[in-house]
Amino acid sequence: SDTALPHKVRDLSLAEQGRHQIRLAEHEMPGLMTLRERFGDQQPLAGARIAGSLHMTVQTAVLIETLVALGAQVRWASCNIFSTQDEAAAAVVVGPHGSPQDPRGVPVFAWKGETLEEYWWCTTQIMLWPDGQGPNMILDDGGDATLLVHKGREWEQLGAVPGAQPEDPEEWKVILETVRAGLADHPTRWTDVAAGLRGVTEETTTGVHRLYQLHEAGQLLVPAINVNDSVTKSKFDNVYGVRHSLVDGINRATDVLIGGKVAVVCGFGDVGKGCAEALRGQGARVIVTEIDPICALQAAMEGYQVARLDDVIGQADFVVTATGCKDVVTAEHMRRLKDKAIVGNIGHFDNEIDMAGLARVPGVQRTEIKPQVHEWTLPAETVDGADRPQRSVIVLSEGRLLNLGNATGHPSFVMSTSFANQVLAQVELFGSPEDYPLGVHTLPKELDEEVARIHLGSVGADLTELSKEQAAYLGVDVAGPYKPDHYRY
Ligand code: NAI
Repeated sequence: SDTALPHKVRDLSLAEQGRHQIRLAEHEMPGLMTLRERFGDQQPLAGARIAGSLHMTVQTAVLIETLVALGAQVRWASCNIFSTQDEAAAAVVVGPHGSPQDPRGVPVFAWKGETLEEYWWCTTQIMLWPDGQGPNMILDDGGDATLLVHKGREWEQLGAVPGAQPEDPEEWKVILETVRAGLADHPTRWTDVAAGLRGVTEETTTGVHRLYQLHEAGQLLVPAINVNDSVTKSKFDNVYGVRHSLVDGINRATDVLIGGKVAVVCGFGDVGKGCAEALRGQGARVIVTEIDPICALQAAMEGYQVARLDDVIGQADFVVTATGCKDVVTAEHMRRLKDKAIVGNIGHFDNEIDMAGLARVPGVQRTEIKPQVHEWTLPAETVDGADRPQRSVIVLSEGRLLNLGNATGHPSFVMSTSFANQVLAQVELFGSPEDYPLGVHTLPKELDEEVARIHLGSVGADLTELSKEQAAYLGVDVAGPYKPDHYRY
C-alpha cells in the first residue's frame, strides 16, 4: 500500500462492513463507552504507546478505539492465527474518519488464517515503532507478546540466541527465528524494548499463569496487572462469554444437533462451567472430567456425571477441552471415538488436543470440509481383539480455540466487562506506576465493582443501596467495596 500508515490486513475495502459492526458493538459495550465519556477530557493515556496482542475482533476494535480516545498511540496484532475478523481489522486501520485510500486509524497486523511465521512476524511489528522507539505498554492475551520481549532480551543478554534444538516444538523454532530477525537491523532490539516498558496487562488465565511463573523465577522485567482475575472478567467472560460462543462455534462449524447427544467437557473451571451449561441448555447429556476434587464435586452438584475420559470416550458425540493443561485428549482417545464425533478446544493454546499424534496415526487422512473444519479419517484396525471399522473424527480449528476460530468469539456485552478492566488496568499502570511495584497485581476491588456498576443500567438492573446503619452493621462503606478480597463470588 502507498499509505504512510503501516499495516497488514486482508483487505481494506472490508472497512465499511467492519465499521457498521463496530457501531452496533459500541451500543452493546456500555462499559467502554462510559470510560470514553469519563476520561475523554483527561486523556490519561496521553504518551502511552501500547503494543496490543489480542484477538482482532469487532469487540477488540471498540477496545482499541477506546484506548485511542483516552490519548494512547496503539499498534495491534491478534493473539491467535485464526481469530481475526478481517472486516474489523480493516475498519481499525481505516479509522472512523479515513477511507481505504486514505487510512487514518491504527496500525494493525492481523488477518484470519496466518501461518505461524506470519503470526510471529505480526507480533514483532507491534514492537517496532516508527521513530525507532518501542512500546511503553503491552496489552496481552495469552502472553505471547510478553514472552517475545522477555525471551528476546534474555537471549540477547546471554550474548547468543540459542540454536533450535531438534526436540524443540515447531513454534519454538519460529520464536527463535523471530527474535533473530528482530536483531538484524537493531542488535540491542529486545533489551531496548524491555527497558522502555512500564508494564503489561494480561487478559487470560493461561497468560496470567505464565506471568506468575516468570515472576517466581525472578525473570519478570516489568509490573503486570492480571486482568483475568478481576471478578468482572473471569466470572463473566470465561463463563457467560463461553456459554454463548462455544455453541456458536460448534453450530457454525458443523450445524449438528446437540440435543440428545453426549458431550464431554474436560475441565470444570470458569470456562468449563460455561461450556457445560451451554451444552446442557441445548439438551445434551454432559459428562465432566476434572483433576481438582473441588471442581469435580461442583460438577456433580450441578448434576453432571463426572468421569475419566478413558472410561467415557467411546460414548462421546462431542469432546470439548477447557483445561489450560496439555495432552488432555490423546491420539488414542480420538481413535476410540464414535464415527463423526466432534472434537474441539476452547482453552487458550492448541496443546490440549494431541493433533501431532493424530497426524501420525498410520493411514490417517485429513479432508478439509471448510476452513477450520477438518475430517480425519482413521483406517479400519483391530485393537486388543476388537475390530474398529473405518471411521472419522471432526476436528474444529485444528485444535486451536474454536469459539474464535469457527465463530467470532464472545459477544460484545460480555467483552465490555473484560475490556473495561483492560482499559482501567492500562490507565492504572501507565498513570500510577508508584502503586504497582514489580510483580503481578490485580485491580483494586473498587474498580472491579465500578466495572459491574457501569453495566447495570443496560440490563435494567436496579441496585439496592445500603443505609448508613446497614453499612455500619456489615462493617463496609456505603460506597463499597462490599466484599473482602478473599470472597469468591
Ligand atoms: P480454570 O483454571 O478456572 O479452569 C481450568 C480447569 O481445568 C481447572 O478446574 C483444572 O482443575 C482443570 N484441569 C486441569 N487439567 C486438567 C486435566 N488434565 N483434565 C481435566 N481437567 C483439568 O481456567 P479457565 O479460566 O476456565 O480457563 C481455561 C482455559 O481457557 C485457559 O487456557 C484460558 O486462558 C482459556 N480461556 C479461553 C477463552 C475463550 O474465549 N476461548 C476465554 C477465557 C479463558
